[in-house]
Amino acid sequence: MKAVILIGGEATRMRPLTQNIPKAVVPVLNTPFLELVFRYLSQHGIRDIILAQSRRLPIAGYFDDGSQFGIRIDYTNEDAPLDTAGAVKNAEKYLNEAFLVLNGDVLTDVDISAMVSFHRQKRAKVTIALTPVDDPTSYGLVETDDENRITRFLEKPRPDQITTNLINAGIYVIEADVLARIPLQTSFSFERELFPQLLAQDEPIYAYPSAGYWIDIGTPQKYLQLNQDLLAGKASSRNYGFIPNIDVLLGDKTSLNPKAQIKGPAVIGSGCTIEEDALIEQSVIWQQVKIGRRAKVKNSIVANHCQLGDDCVIQDAVLGDNVTVTRGARLAPGSKIQPDTTV
Ligand code: GTP
Repeated sequence: MKAVILIGGEATRMRPLTQNIPKAVVPVLNTPFLELVFRYLSQHGIRDIILAQSRRLPIAGYFDDGSQFGIRIDYTNEDAPLDTAGAVKNAEKYLNEAFLVLNGDVLTDVDISAMVSFHRQKRAKVTIALTPVDDPTSYGLVETDDENRITRFLEKPRPDQITTNLINAGIYVIEADVLARIPLQTSFSFERELFPQLLAQDEPIYAYPSAGYWIDIGTPQKYLQLNQDLLAGKASSRNYGFIPNIDVLLGDKTSLNPKAQIKGPAVIGSGCTIEEDALIEQSVIWQQVKIGRRAKVKNSIVANHCQLGDDCVIQDAVLGDNVTVTRGARLAPGSKIQPDTTV
């Protein structure tokens, strides 16, 4: 089976981390995000992947044709964003049998092999993976009958409309003949248009509920959470090529002063220098970052090539690439600093 991965949007909520690189390749445990998704799909025997991009992003520079990862990757680009279903229609020439669709910002261990078997057994046109969340108000809710056949979609419900905590997980198995119902080169949504239309026509759309790990890296906070979850062994970390329960992950050629202290869960990328008595707690540091003496970094994300002066304090902050924090500076908690600035 082939998989289409949807890569779109401006990823504005992930700024300043995505000012210089697409969200799809932000480093998670020092590995480009999509590479983890490729490992997950490979575990389920899916090695033929189409990256459906809303615009031409520099992603091919990371993955090329996929051969170095033991997969095959084709790329499609849109002249103007075509939304989720329109993006898959744009990849139609690669799809001649049932296929999988994945939102490109989701990391999960939903058992897609079992989901595909379920889809076939139900003779469904579309099967949608569902995942439970604590607060469903900002997602698409899905109601089902006792046989897991979908009875209603509810996008971004008001609190009084909530009847389930199961949301659309952004993972679909779709029969190829469904593509004929999507208009060509037109913005068209699975969630708001195609699926409700299929439902209205009484087509068999099924839900595959899963209690597995699921996160969408929509915000820096979620991105930090994902790194910490993988370190803690959630999301069946072995599937992604990691040994779970390492508290601190250090990249190559990173020099850590013996008197520096790192409290996990924390990830430090390659080529960093961490000086004497620096303290790094529950943070993710990208590559080539210098952290000065007695500097404190807590619950923060520091992107590539940042320079943190001696005695500075950074908490709950997100620093874009190449930020300089001057000696002794204290950033207000929650700060988001644009790339190439000095604070
Ligand atoms: P972001 O804009 O990435 O924050 O999307 P979202 O989290 O609001 O999700 P949405 O439901 O809009 O999109 C689901 C998935 O489809 C995400 O992975 C998006 O990046 C992707 N996507 C959304 N719109 C488009 C589009 O026009 N073209 C393509 N190729 N992908 C899209």
